Amino acid sequence: MSETHTVALARPWFGEEEAAAVRRVLASGWVVQGPQVAAFEQAVGALHQMPHAVAVSSATAGLHLVYLALGIGPGDVVLVPSFAWPSAANMAARVGAVPFFVDVDPRTYNLTSAALQHSLRLVRERGLGRPRAVVAVHEFGLPAPMDGILETANEAGLMVIEDAACALGASHQGKFLGHFGRAAVFSFHPRKSVSTGEGGVVVTREPGLAEAIRTLRNHGQEMHNGRREFTTTGFNYRLTEIQAAIGIEQLKRFPYILEAKRRLAAQYFNELDGIGGLALPAQSPEQTWQTFMITLESEALRSRVHEACRASGIETGPGAVAGHAGALWGGQFLQPQDLCPVSTRLATCGLALPLHAQLTPDDLRHVSSTIHKSMQK
Ligand SMILES: Cc1ncc(COP(=O)(O)O)c(C=O)c1O
Repeated sequence: MSETHTVALARPWFGEEEAAAVRRVLASGWVVQGPQVAAFEQAVGALHQMPHAVAVSSATAGLHLVYLALGIGPGDVVLVPSFAWPSAANMAARVGAVPFFVDVDPRTYNLTSAALQHSLRLVRERGLGRPRAVVAVHEFGLPAPMDGILETANEAGLMVIEDAACALGASHQGKFLGHFGRAAVFSFHPRKSVSTGEGGVVVTREPGLAEAIRTLRNHGQEMHNGRREFTTTGFNYRLTEIQAAIGIEQLKRFPYILEAKRRLAAQYFNELDGIGGLALPAQSPEQTWQTFMITLESEALRSRVHEACRASGIETGPGAVAGHAGALWGGQFLQPQDLCPVSTRLATCGLALPLHAQLTPDDLRHVSSTIHKSMQK
């Protein structure tokens, strides 16, 4: 490993196949919402064994449309995990609902049914609105405990939506994600294992929901007896043919990407196990390892490890954010920081380590030994 080599936190794996696919689309002249998008939707649906897949411009756009298509709006409360990317909370607020943050488990980083039940009690006590939906984020590619979440949701009359932005290819107890909620969204942002630049796909088992999302993503247009009608105030959340063509090639690479990330994650477990002051994440064979985040004993220790990595050409970063404690939502909806202590801790002490398919075992050894040394100081 050379001194100048940078070990990137994440990096999409594009090659000649993606470049050739883009050239074919450009030569065809059909660059928006056409056969490539249809084929990409088909491929993502098939991967998760879901009958309906709708491509959109991002996972955030997908969540926005899912909420609208499910009729979530003013007066509703949407429960979301506090430790996550804030799209699920932001889009809930955008449709006029109240996002309520739920604490997560310190090792899986996911919602638990106990935390969900606790939050439901708080929402009712405080009269924040009608608890309407819970978003199960499958954080960093690890499936959330869906049995308990579904049981609690059913008892409380909540709709379940899956935010699988980080979890393409993941399954829970043998069933692919998407089969648990009313709909699931995937992201194809460059930090994800499979990327189209920007992009998202919504999958659902419900034909009516899929159709409503298709209409909303495309300016609210529908074909009626061969005539175009604008039936709702829609958006332009379409994916381009160029992005979809890249996505089709990326999905062919995906088995290799997944296999490489699983191997590298196993190497981290071997090399970082047993270091005092450092906690490793939960492990599961169903985890797809979007991100590998460790938790340090304190914020100061995290800074020290981060600095040591930076000085050795290694990129690290915070894994996600604690929505309830941030500048946007902090203190709102009567949710002081101490309501989600685990999320607060993960946001201040969590450190995401480099993990992408083009890293070598030597790169990882360099990361692990840098962490080891920085912890001994
Ligand atoms: C859990 C989660 N949801 C949503 C998103 C947003 O995805 P996109 O950038 O495609 O909108 C992300 C992105 O990191 C995410 O991690």
